[in-house]
Amino acid sequence: MDAVRFLLDGEVVEAAVTDPTRTVLQFLREDLRRVGSKEGCAEGDCGACAVVVVELEQDALRYRAVNACIRFLPTLDGKALFTVESLKSRHHESPARLHPAQQSMVDWHGSQCGFCTPGFVMSMFALYLAQKAPTRAQINDALSGNLCRCTGYRPIIDACIHMRDYPAPRHGHNETALKKQLRGLARDQRGLEYSANGRRFFAPRDADELAAVLQDNPDAQILAGGTDVGLWVTKQLRELPHVVYLGEAADLNRIDIDDKTIRIAAAVTLEDALAPILAEYPELGELFRRFASLPVRNAGTLVGNVANGSPIGDSMPALLALGAAVNLRRGKRRRRLALEEFYHGYMQNALQAGEFIESVAIPRRVEGLRLACYKLSKRYDQDISALCAAFALRLDNELEGGRVRHIRIAFGGMAAIPKRALATEIWLGGKAWGEATIEQAARRLDEDFTPLGDMRASAAYRARAAANMLRRFFLQTRPEAALADAEVNVFQMAS
Ligand code: FAD
Ligand code: FES
Ligand code: FES
Repeated sequence: MDAVRFLLDGEVVEAAVTDPTRTVLQFLREDLRRVGSKEGCAEGDCGACAVVVVELEQDALRYRAVNACIRFLPTLDGKALFTVESLKSRHHESPARLHPAQQSMVDWHGSQCGFCTPGFVMSMFALYLAQKAPTRAQINDALSGNLCRCTGYRPIIDACIHMRDYPAPRHGHNETALKKQLRGLARDQRGLEYSANGRRFFAPRDADELAAVLQDNPDAQILAGGTDVGLWVTKQLRELPHVVYLGEAADLNRIDIDDKTIRIAAAVTLEDALAPILAEYPELGELFRRFASLPVRNAGTLVGNVANGSPIGDSMPALLALGAAVNLRRGKRRRRLALEEFYHGYMQNALQAGEFIESVAIPRRVEGLRLACYKLSKRYDQDISALCAAFALRLDNELEGGRVRHIRIAFGGMAAIPKRALATEIWLGGKAWGEATIEQAARRLDEDFTPLGDMRASAAYRARAAANMLRRFFLQTRPEAALADAEVNVFQMAS
């Protein structure tokens, strides 16, 4: 049995916890009695537990704000952790100085009851390290995973705007020393294998090792960013069997782009997947900005979203519309499935025992493609969709009105799985892209879907909103609009 080893305030912590799914927050608060990080929701929503995890990536330090409440402790192995306590001056400065993120919160009245404050400060600390002069949009994004019930946010945003007005902290950490310490913690021979009370936690170093571990332990739970799996433990109180964490598999943390495909491997976080996807498909910008929050995107993966297969998962409608595929692997055997073939039923997929998704392959942009993706949720930031729709269209003879040469329509929230509107797509093939066609197509969506009602939306609301999304896509892509708005990117979603 290995101990889990990570850095905290420059010291190596060796943790031998009795439960491999003990969360970082439980370990901090209950074992170390380091209670600055708070538990508000225990499901990644409120940010009261935010901490910063530091990794060495290609010899550079990566600082990421994440939610300690849904992060299992063994995933910290080989990394460094900063909590709100890490920010205090450590060299007996007199008078003791707060970090600029903290002092700014004091001076700009960013704290009232204070429960949310440590979490906000950690998100601000990560922003402080990442951006010298953050824009308002970057500030909003950095704070999207933190909730405050008292202040109304404006003072906190002011504090963010002004934190660079303060002198740099004299107690700032030494990056060269941190890199050296992280190198010292790296496991070269084989990945972490932790076991406690008969339950094991594996963190293979590469895809081959991962494939072998999964073949030997086909009942093990695959863990990527844990932003779904973490909640099974903290909310559903499930005891997971063996866990195989793929976040340490270096060759799965890569993005490959050739002239046909953008391939996002299994350990790539949602935040890292954003840049190449948005460079190709900027129309998906708003969807990704509204996908959970920065701390969730810093941990969660695109492949995890696809594998989890929630009917209201946000990436799948766009991936289905773009014709994406999943590359699966079991031992040495590999196969590829179109994404729509991957889903068999509610939270059921084509994965066989011991098999995993190595990557998602997204086709490169083709000429003449019009794409839109609309997310409908009750709140703008950090909210699960009631409905999510994606449309990909190519027209023939556009200047003469345009006929549908190619169309893919996919919805989340309309069925038990993320699903294409196949009957509507087929009916639209070759038809004139005009209002009369769209009105008929909007009614035909009923052939493809019988949505359910739940706390997010009634069945009738979903059906009506889906038809209206198709109408909206038409209004944004009708030939007259394309001509009139030639210089305006009409395909961007309105907020
Ligand atoms: P994990 O939780 O690690 O795994 C999820 C599932 O996928 C597990 O069954 C796991 O075994 C399986 N899995 C993971 N990787 C593989 C692989 N390579 N091969 C086979 N199986 C695999 N989702 C949205 O779509 N939109 C949102 O707006 C959104 N908001 C959220 C807000 C909060 C506060 C939280 C906590 C979650 C939110 N989510 C949202 C859900 C979640 O963030 C995503 O589903 C995420 O992409 C899952 O990825 P992960 O790496 O965390 O997966
Ligand atoms: Fe709410 Fe962690 S306690 S996000
Ligand atoms: Fe009270 Fe934010 S200050 S919740």
